[in-house]
Amino acid sequence: MRISVIGCGYLGAVHAACMAKLGHEVVGVDVDENKIKDLSAGHAPFFEPGLENLLKEVQATGRLSFTTDMAAVQGSSVHFVCVGTPQKKGENAADLTYVDAAVHALMPHLSSGDLVVGKSTVPVGTAARLTSIVHRACANAHLVWNPEFLREGHAVADTLQPDRFVYGVADGSEDNPAVKELDKVYEIPLSEGTPRLVTDLPTAELVKTAANSFLATKISFINAMAELCDAAGADVSLLADAIGMDDRIGRKFLNAGVGFGGGCLPKDIRAFMARAGELGADQALTFLREVDAINMRRRTRVVELTRDLCDGSLLGRRITVLGAAFKPQSDDVRDSPALSIAAQLQLQGAVVTVSDPEALENAARRFPELHYEKSTEVALDRADAILLLTEWPEYRDLDPYETANLVVDRKILDGRNVLDAKKWRAAGWTFRGLGRP
Ligand code: UGA
Repeated sequence: MRISVIGCGYLGAVHAACMAKLGHEVVGVDVDENKIKDLSAGHAPFFEPGLENLLKEVQATGRLSFTTDMAAVQGSSVHFVCVGTPQKKGENAADLTYVDAAVHALMPHLSSGDLVVGKSTVPVGTAARLTSIVHRACANAHLVWNPEFLREGHAVADTLQPDRFVYGVADGSEDNPAVKELDKVYEIPLSEGTPRLVTDLPTAELVKTAANSFLATKISFINAMAELCDAAGADVSLLADAIGMDDRIGRKFLNAGVGFGGGCLPKDIRAFMARAGELGADQALTFLREVDAINMRRRTRVVELTRDLCDGSLLGRRITVLGAAFKPQSDDVRDSPALSIAAQLQLQGAVVTVSDPEALENAARRFPELHYEKSTEVALDRADAILLLTEWPEYRDLDPYETANLVVDRKILDGRNVLDAKKWRAAGWTFRGLGRP
């Protein structure tokens, strides 16, 4: 099939490459010329394992191209809208400027029978509004909402072998012609057994925000338990193992630590609350305010613990922060707990060095006042205290004896609860975890 993908960020670039891998002829469109130049040369403009190889592989087949010219979508029968929906400045609500701009720019190029497929995360009700724009431009075109559940760091596999497909169509019916068309797009994963659900438009939009809200709630739940464990002298990691053995609860997303960040979970729960308020259902989501508050409290807690670790004063203390990305296998620093903690420590007088295998360029753009060092060894040199805030494998594998030779003081705070406390203490370290005795 001939497919266009509008917006070539994390979601769109991966989606375009994966659609070409599935055998389709794909054109990716973005307004950012640099991004298009990179992608056309087979370079991923961000760090995503497997993406660069996939780009090169599918570009060699001639089935994938990128352009800034929207007219190139002509001839495609399916158009995926993959642009970002960031948080509005100074408000909780989502900023739909890019979605609206993309849809409006696409309209003059629509043909009868075309599918416009929304993948961006949007407030419920957006799809209905966009449907009327699509129908005004072309009465026989269809709008479908097909939310994306990919995780950064696993984006290629999550796109090629997703847990499920959700198709939101106007009448919520299996017989809607758009369903058959989208089935053709996803023929390979569907034939491999990926389940798919057909829903109406608002349900499909809500599935995405509900899923992310549930994940955020799970993380904040275990972080609230970590606060209790701290108060009671209990161990949150063992607690998570034990409750996670109950199938109904499950162990995934029960890792207590510095909390969730990134370009999705934090802004999605806020946008969800804002939208619920507009719909007069704000009470239904007041718990998400608490989820957000627990999450933000983690950052303050780490700053307090670090001060404790430094005998009550941060002034002039050399602190090495391991990790800048919001999670490992990503160079994304949007709303990164690690960076926000590093910046707070620096504000309070510490001399902070941040290290990360992939995210330093993005971090320096966001917080130019911090000091950055790519080499872990150099970053640890003469540190008064170490904070592990993003659990990259190289930090999880640090050897406490070798590390001890680099630092001034053997003090470490494990903000992700991934290190073996006994081993580090045996090597003479003052060791602090979060919610661990
Ligand atoms: C999230 C969802 O997991 C995806 O399903 C969704 O498609 C995506 O948002 C999106 O809306 O586009 P992502 O932002 O890539 O994916 O990151 P996650 O893997 O969900 O992690 C989010 C944050 O939670 C990270 O900062 C991570 O370190 C933290 N986390 C995760 C914890 O603190 N504890 C856990 O147990 C798990």
